[in-house]
Formats: sequence, structure tokens, C-alpha cells
Amino acid sequence: MLKRITLPVAEIVNENETIRTFYFEKKLGALPGQFIMLSDLVTGEKPFSISECESGYFGVTIKKLGTFTQALFEKKPGDLLSYRGAYGSSFSISGRNVLLVGGGYATPPLYYLSKELLKAGAELTVVNGARSKKELVFCERFSNLSLSYQRITDAGCLGRAGSSVDIAQVLLEENHYDMVYVSGPELMMRAMRNLLQNYPELNYEFLFERYMKCAIGICGNCTIDPLGIRLCVEGPVLARDKIVQLTEFGEYHRNAAGIKEYF
Ligand SMILES: Cc1cc2nc3c(=O)[nH]c(=O)nc-3n(C[C@H](O)[C@H](O)[C@H](O)COP(=O)(O)OP(=O)(O)OC[C@H]3O[C@@H](n4cnc5c(N)ncnc54)[C@H](O)[C@@H]3O)c2cc1C
Ligand code: FES
Repeated sequence: MLKRITLPVAEIVNENETIRTFYFEKKLGALPGQFIMLSDLVTGEKPFSISECESGYFGVTIKKLGTFTQALFEKKPGDLLSYRGAYGSSFSISGRNVLLVGGGYATPPLYYLSKELLKAGAELTVVNGARSKKELVFCERFSNLSLSYQRITDAGCLGRAGSSVDIAQVLLEENHYDMVYVSGPELMMRAMRNLLQNYPELNYEFLFERYMKCAIGICGNCTIDPLGIRLCVEGPVLARDKIVQLTEFGEYHRNAAGIKEYF
């Protein structure tokens, strides 16, 4: 969808000091895992995953980092923003006993996914991990769903101490899951891929982030080695059969100029 839609921000929720959810009153019709290209009509446009999507509204949950997101954090309800999309592949809604593992500000798309999985009748365990209490988001929203919810921070200041991967390891040893979904920092996802090598029968899907410009498969900036998959079109959600082939995964990514940057 190339059409750009400009509309006022309906509501802004402060998740913590550096993360906010921006809500828009518009039927988006996106699937879990998809993203929009959001613009402030001045600074540019950037990709953001859908964290909530109902018939009359949708939300994106944004971490304040650089020029664009700092400009977004100046916005108030009623200010105009503009988006195109939704774009990309989505999480499959599959599995009866499902494990979802999130890390930091990449966790919110798993909230939208959780709601859709619950509607499909799945039993869910959600692990929400972050470096610090500050970075742990959507706790109340997850707690209000009918699922098993575990939160964890590196220092253990809220929930348990350790990483989401540590908890996932224990859960995988103690339970039988038939599907795993992961969204988090790439090094965390690489650790999850390594862990999941011990479960060759278990299917999984990860949500990838790469530098995106066009978001419609033209510029090639978001391709990932060695398959040349365009993550804005064939991704950002990839399944196990593709993930195991990625030599770039957890090693490097490309910046705006297409130059490799190692993790
Ligand atoms: C499919 C996808 C979904 C995403 N979902 C979210 C989300 O839900 N919430 C969220 O906070 N962030 C999300 N991001 C990352 C978000 O796009 C960047 O944080 C944002 O673009 C930062 O812009 P900036 O100018 O504030 O920061 P900068 O200082 O320009 O960059 C900060 C970081 O963001 C990355 N980044 C910058 N521009 C882009 C771009 N055009 N495409 C991808 N990464 C970029 C940089 O590589 C750098 O690591 C997503 C990225 C992708 C590809
Ligand atoms: S961002 Fe241009 S091909 Fe993906």
C-alpha cells in the first residue's frame, strides 16, 4: 500500500521515560508482526511495528533514540503524523501451546500477536525481558490477558534476574511447546536460535529489524545475507527454515549507507 494517510495522534501513553505508545483512530487492518512507515512530515519516515490493532484504532510503541524519534516525542495528541502501510510478512497464528519471548522495546508487537493467538484458542506463555526496569514495557497489558506471564530484568530489580533466554531455556526443558515466537535485540534472538537448535522439531518465527528506506522492496537496503531476502517484503517475520540459513544474523547489519556494521 503506497497511499500515505495523514491523521492526528489520538493518544500518547508514556510507557516509561524513553518509550511511548502513539495511538491513531483509524482502521489499519494490519496483521501481527507487520509494520508501518511513520512520518512527522518534516524529519523523514521510519519503520515501527504494530503493537495494538483493533477495528477502530492502532498503536505503535516507540523508543526515543535519535533525530526522528526525538522529534516524535515532541508531539502532542492532536498533532498530525502520517503513515503508509501496513507492510511486510506477519506472524503465523499457529500452535496450541505457544511460547513468546520478547526483549526490551521489541516486545510490544508480541502483545498484538498474543491477543490474536488467544482468540484462536492457544495457550500462551509470555516472557518479557529487559536490561532494566525502565526498559520493561507492557507488563500491565500482558498481565490482563489470560496467559502465563513472566518478566525478567538483567539485575532482577523487577521480576526475576537474568535474561529472557535464561527463562526460555527453563520453560523449554519443563514444557512441551509446539510454536515459539521471538522479538528482541538481535543478539538475544541469536541466543534463542542457538537454544532452539536443541529442539529440531519445534517451529519458530522471529521478527527482524534492518535499516529500511523504501519498505516496498525497491531499494535493497534491507536484504539479509546470504539469501538476499528483502526484510521489508519477505520479512520482517521469518520462520525457522529461513532463519537457520542466515549467515548475517547476529553478526552484522547494514547502516543507511549500506555499509556493514558488526554487532
Ligand atoms: C521492521 C521494523 C520494525 C521496527 N519496530 C520498531 C518499534 O516497534 N519500536 C521502535 O522503537 N523501533 C522500531 N524499529 C526501529 C526504528 O525504526 C528505529 O529505532 C528508528 O528508525 C530510529 O530512528 P532515529 O532517527 O530516532 O534514530 P537514529 O539515531 O537514526 O538510529 C537509531 C537506531 O535505529 C536504527 N534505525 C534508524 N533508522 C532506521 C530505519 N530507517 N530502519 C531501521 N532501523 C533504523 C539505526 O540503525 C540505529 O540502530 C523498527 C525497525 C524495523 C526495521
Ligand atoms: S527497505 Fe527498500 S527493499 Fe526493503
